Amino acid sequence: MNSAINEPAQFVTVNNERFRVFITEEKIKTRVKELAEEINRNYAGKTPILIGVLNGSFIFFSDLVREITVDCEIDFFKLSSYGDAKISSGNVKLLKDLNCQVTERDIIIVEDIIDSGLSIDFIKNLISKQNPRSFSVVTLLYKRDCVKIDFKVDYIGFQIPNHFVIGYGLDYTQKARNLRSIYILDK
Ligand code: IMP
Ligand code: MG
Repeated sequence: MNSAINEPAQFVTVNNERFRVFITEEKIKTRVKELAEEINRNYAGKTPILIGVLNGSFIFFSDLVREITVDCEIDFFKLSSYGDAKISSGNVKLLKDLNCQVTERDIIIVEDIIDSGLSIDFIKNLISKQNPRSFSVVTLLYKRDCVKIDFKVDYIGFQIPNHFVIGYGLDYTQKARNLRSIYILDK
């Protein structure tokens, strides 16, 4: 097979703004496997519920869950915070609640990206009230200069600078979620 076919486009343009490739599909794949291996080790003999945060985490979630080898269940939250902007509105709204019971269960929240940390803080508060047996968070991306939370994120795919990124589930005005690599605003 011609390997050039699998090379990601170096640049994409969304809403007339240029983004350059930042984390390739291949690097994401390797890291997702490593995260899953860590989770498999830590949850051996348990049956965690993996809870994806829609919409952004849908691709990461489905890739991660297929690398999980312990018995697990899944569910989803849907939150909104960004609207169509590149900066968080600072307002977290719950658009879809869980269908499962989290009391006395091992909960793993699956996020695409933690930016200000407002969303994950909101979720932690919501879940804590229902007394889970354990609570942990896995996020593919973590904006290290931005996050303001007072708890530890257990599994981090990549720590990234405070720049806007798209692709692999992450959107810009609902577009670009389908890109296979992660792209960063090319300033
Ligand atoms: P937080 O509440 O500020 O931590 O933001 C969390 C949510 O905002 C994420 O789950 C994403 O859906 C979205 N978000 C944060 N940063 C970015 C970005 O750089 N690109 C696209 N979406 C983002
Ligand atoms: Mg999200």
